Amino acid sequence: MTSHRVLRHSALVLGLATCLMASARDGGPAVPPVDAVPANGLARTPPMGWNSWNHFAGRITAEDVRGMADAMVANGMRDAGYVYVNIDDTWEGVRDASGAIRPNDKFGDMKALADYVHARGLKLGIYSSPGAKTCAGFEGSFGHEEQDARTYAAWGVDFLKYDYCGARDQYPVTLENQQALFRRMGQALRRTGRPIVYSLSQSGQFDIWKWGPRTGANLWRTTPDISDDWSSMSERGFRQLDLAAWSGPGHWNDPDMLEIGNGGMTMDEYRTQMSLWSLLPAPLLAGNDLRGMDAETKAILLNREVIAIDQDPAALPARRLETQGDVEVLVRDMSDGSRVVGFFNRGEAPARVTFPWSRLGQRFAKPRNVRDLWNHRSLPTNEGYDEALPRHGSVLLRVGAASGT
Ligand code: GLA
Repeated sequence: MTSHRVLRHSALVLGLATCLMASARDGGPAVPPVDAVPANGLARTPPMGWNSWNHFAGRITAEDVRGMADAMVANGMRDAGYVYVNIDDTWEGVRDASGAIRPNDKFGDMKALADYVHARGLKLGIYSSPGAKTCAGFEGSFGHEEQDARTYAAWGVDFLKYDYCGARDQYPVTLENQQALFRRMGQALRRTGRPIVYSLSQSGQFDIWKWGPRTGANLWRTTPDISDDWSSMSERGFRQLDLAAWSGPGHWNDPDMLEIGNGGMTMDEYRTQMSLWSLLPAPLLAGNDLRGMDAETKAILLNREVIAIDQDPAALPARRLETQGDVEVLVRDMSDGSRVVGFFNRGEAPARVTFPWSRLGQRFAKPRNVRDLWNHRSLPTNEGYDEALPRHGSVLLRVGAASGT
């Protein structure tokens, strides 16, 4: 295991252990309830950007963040919609005499970093926890929520990931405590008057998708941490279908960040992550080192026809139409009246898909056009799709309804 993988893994194990201890405790301090926080009107489509955790974990520095911002401009990611540059855990230093949080030596001057990111047409994201310590043991926002929100706003922060993990040491893990603590920061962000996208992280406990919107949040993790392997990624992605009704403009289910380009999966598997996250639709937060990506990785992250599916303004939920052996057939309606169909081979061997267009319904039985979003070409509109999918591979087709329907 590389060092960041060890850190990611130990953070998860530690988190699970403290969670179990806290849940087993009888009673314990209850956080005073906080009123529901109104929606902030942000994130009408799933947030897109980059986050430091999956690749860098505790090694992230301000210099790396500047490098990512430069790369996102140079490689076309910013122009394709990836605008948030999000620093995850381990940027935090100590508090000054007035209690204001200061970054540690890896970061130095946060305002200067925010200015640098903004000057490139990008936005800056940061990370904290309602606990006294964060998941990785750095300074959290416990007792300083208002002050931290004001500090972030003064720096020019545009996105906060707020991770419950560390708060397990202060309070028993209950629905009421989580709700109150997330609302407390939601209120604090709102009071700053700065538009700050609010992202919650607690692995999807207590059906967070049902109450997340009333904390003022724009997205919430629905699963424990992803890792750079097929079973972790695919299991998280497909699980979202059952939760689709709870996700939409301004309030997104978040199956965790992209692993595309991190090296643990095949290119077919990485294309499948991009296909699945876009079809759901889910936030697209790249988690790799964007400097010096190979051409194939770039082509996955920068596939504008697939990104357009993720960013479709209607954001209707995807649903499972059928399964053919190991192949899942998912569909979603687009705002222009077209329908996207995704074929996903979850099996260990290549699998053939035979799919007459009529399965999409009468309006699509004789489609006006069929676009293959990975091969960037139009397909014949007669009959249907009949091809072999590689192991763990996927296909995304955008199908136009017949004229006059
Ligand atoms: C938790 C989160 C991760 C990451 C780490 C940082 O494990 O789920 O996404 O933010 O904390 O410590």
